[in-house]
Amino acid sequence: MADYKKEIERRRTFAIISHPDAGKTTLTEKLLLYGGAIQQAGMVKGKRHMRHAVSDWMDIEKQRGISVTSSVMQFEYNNYCINILDTPGHADFSEDTYRTLMAADSAVMVIDAAKGVEKQTRKLFKVCTLRHIPIFTFINKMDRDARSPYDLTDQIEQELGIKTYAMNWPIGSGREFKGVYDRAAKKILTFTAEETANGKHQVEESASDLSDPKLSDLLGEDLLSTLKDDVELLDGAGADFSLEDVRRGKLSPVFFGSALTNFGVEPFLQEFLRMTTTPLPRKADIGEIDPMDSHFSAFVFKIQANMNKAHRDRVAFLRICSGEFDRGMEVVHMQGGRKMKLMAPQQLMAEQREIIDHAYAGDIIGVFDPGVFSIGDTLCASDKKFCFGGIPTFAPEHFARVSPKDTMKRKQFVKGMTQIAQEGAIQIFQELNGSMEEVVVGAVGQLQFEVLEYRLENEYKVDIRMENLPHEYIRWIENEGLDPKSLDLTSDTRCIQDLKGNHLLIFVSEWNITWALQHNHGLQLSEFGGAKL
Ligand code: G4P
Repeated sequence: MADYKKEIERRRTFAIISHPDAGKTTLTEKLLLYGGAIQQAGMVKGKRHMRHAVSDWMDIEKQRGISVTSSVMQFEYNNYCINILDTPGHADFSEDTYRTLMAADSAVMVIDAAKGVEKQTRKLFKVCTLRHIPIFTFINKMDRDARSPYDLTDQIEQELGIKTYAMNWPIGSGREFKGVYDRAAKKILTFTAEETANGKHQVEESASDLSDPKLSDLLGEDLLSTLKDDVELLDGAGADFSLEDVRRGKLSPVFFGSALTNFGVEPFLQEFLRMTTTPLPRKADIGEIDPMDSHFSAFVFKIQANMNKAHRDRVAFLRICSGEFDRGMEVVHMQGGRKMKLMAPQQLMAEQREIIDHAYAGDIIGVFDPGVFSIGDTLCASDKKFCFGGIPTFAPEHFARVSPKDTMKRKQFVKGMTQIAQEGAIQIFQELNGSMEEVVVGAVGQLQFEVLEYRLENEYKVDIRMENLPHEYIRWIENEGLDPKSLDLTSDTRCIQDLKGNHLLIFVSEWNITWALQHNHGLQLSEFGGAKL
């Protein structure tokens, strides 16, 4: 097998999703710890200990203590090359998360054992199912009082509509948490919180099987007999495990553990790597692109400006979809219609960047963006040209009218707004026949407006005037050539246009959408602007 194929085959690229506080950052950090990418837990995030937050790039993140933008981390483990796509937990930045999921081949869903499935879990899960990628579940915080494992797995099945298969089963929870039973190996992994020094180092897990006479001392009679009943019930009633169903996103393998204390993290990592897929093929306008195809191809899923104040630069994150990338190679930017050399390709470990010479399908690289890329753009080799399906824009739910306070700052305002919109942090629209001096901004979350205001002030030195609009729903008009002025609409419905000149309507309620459809025969409205999945 060609060397580049061997490299692709050992790649595993996944995103971790969760509702805020379920333990996504802690789990990510522990995976990095096992991969040797960090030496001590607490390096990725340590709000309390005032340690510098490595995955927080922007000042605003530091002020608020939330992870605003996604970061990408690569590490090696047992000859696998792993790319973790970290995603912002805050719901207001979910659009960034949706896009990151487009670059992943599988997802790990972290669930708080006391809370079960939460709002943000549901939303993110839905995006994963659109792409049919494998979804693994890590039920975290078993060292705290937890809901019954039956309840938790039932809830995942009922609310998210995916079958589950418990790979291991917890023995007690909270103070009574003694470990997990590994169903395939038929072994008990015992939990000893004291030894782990709060999970700062790797934990040694000791194993014994169910017939071990020492178990009743270790677990106590009650827990042991509950465990034996549980195991019997699971093995008797549970559905068979099917790796094919896992790979097709129809069955989620469930693991119980505690990221904080490291318990169950390494067995999870090993099993996850065994079951998850190598880089997946991607749809393009010429058909599916095989990752093993020797021609390089990639798409832009994220753009981030001013990651490093000292450099004032803009980085486009590419997901490589096929072939091999060599530093200095020439590629075609399909949307821009021109050849280019990718400058300073970087692999990122949050703030630390490393210039790289080679990267392969499955990898994420950051390249210098001279202001030409947009989200969803395709880059490919000049002797095999095509375009990937693109990334849909998710419908904003908040709108505001924005203009510069000082009209002399018009140029900076337009530059700032355009660049931030290209990054996909916000969407900008204009009034029909309007100018760029006053725009309508759409955002998925209210907090994005604050980030916009902050960034315009800090990075572009423009103070803005912002007036919130009452609209919450957006629909693109699909009928070609339709004059929006001819539409019969309720007085609070507004017609605006996106920067490509497409007309769209914003509504204050769903009722108004129905009204518009009823009063305008043949009107076709769509929720997504841009490519569909
Ligand atoms: P997130 O990225 O999903 O938002 O969650 P994060 O990892 O930041 O974890 C949220 C809180 O839950 C943190 O506590 C973290 O220490 C705690 N946590 C994570 N995993 C476990 C676990 O397995 N067991 C227990 N008991 N706690 C866990 P915090 O006090 O909010 O922050 P910090 O000061 O510890 O960083």
